[in-house]
Parts: sequence; structure tokens; C-alpha cells
Amino acid sequence: ASVNQFRSVLATVPDAMIVIDDRAHILSFSAAAERLFGFSEAEVVGTNINRLMPNPDRERHDDYIARYLTTGERRVIGRGRTVIGQRRDGSTFPMELSVGEAITDGDRVFTGFIRDLTEKQKAEDRIEQLR
Ligand code: HEM
Repeated sequence: ASVNQFRSVLATVPDAMIVIDDRAHILSFSAAAERLFGFSEAEVVGTNINRLMPNPDRERHDDYIARYLTTGERRVIGRGRTVIGQRRDGSTFPMELSVGEAITDGDRVFTGFIRDLTEKQKAEDRIEQLR
């Protein structure tokens, strides 16, 4: 599959979806990802995925990918993980991250699906206050 084929699928996906290469550079950024993070696709393509997260993950994320490429040990791929994302305005939010791996045009890419957990978190906080 080509990057353009990914783009045409992404246009129809309601969840935020981001495709990166093996050096963590963003290849495509869905419309839902644009709404969630407050960046346009044109602004983020070619930049490192780590700009979308706060520290400590921001400064470690290149190492996470390097570790995976070296060892093949999956810590997020195929499992999912609740992590913290960071929007353009610097605010942070909880998100469920699912990462997959694919080969496109002979190159390895990673696909990330993101579900915003902000509303779920707020509902849980409200329930906690009722106790
Ligand atoms: C690994 C955080 C987004 C691709 C990881 C790990 C964390 C993390 C905590 C595993 C650390 C470990 O236990 O070793 C985040 C955060 C994100 C984010 C906070 C918020 C934006 C993404 C996206 C993609 C991605 C969107 C792909 C498009 C990867 C890959 C690995 C990884 C390929 C290594 C493979 C693995 O450990 O299974 N990330 N990530 N990440 N992440 Fe991210």
C-alpha cells in the first residue's frame, strides 16, 4: 500500500489515526487527529511524533522505538496502552493508544489509533465525587 492509499482510508476514519516511519517522523495525520491535537496535517508531516506528548515520554520516545527495532520486543504494539497526549496549546489529556506495524513501499511504518479518554475520565471523576 502507498502513503496515498493510507491517506484515502484515513479520511474516512472517525478515530484519530497517525502513521509514522521507523524514525518517528509523521507520514500522515487524519482529520480526527487534526481536531484532537489542534495541528493541521501540513504542520506535522515530517516532524517527530514526540511533539504530541509531554515528558518524560517525549524525551524517551525515540529510544522506545529504537529499543523495539533492536529487540523486537513489543510493549505497546498489539497490546494498547493508556498514555498522555499533548495538544498544540500545551494542554494534556488521557488517550488510549493502539499501535500496529505495516510495510508500505518496502518501508516499515507504524500506525497509531488514538481514542480521546477525556470524557470517560470526567465521568469517572464525577462518580468518584458521589461516593
Ligand atoms: C512505544 C508513548 C504515540 C509508536 C511507546 C511506549 C510508550 C509510548 C510509553 C512504550 C514504552 C515502553 O514500555 O518501552 C506514547 C505516547 C504517545 C505515543 C505518550 C502520545 C502521542 C505513538 C504513536 C505511534 C507510536 C501515534 C505510531 C503512529 C510507538 C512505537 C513504539 C512505541 C512503534 C515501540 C513499540 C512497542 O513498544 O511496542 N510509546 N506513544 N507512539 N510507540 Fe508510542
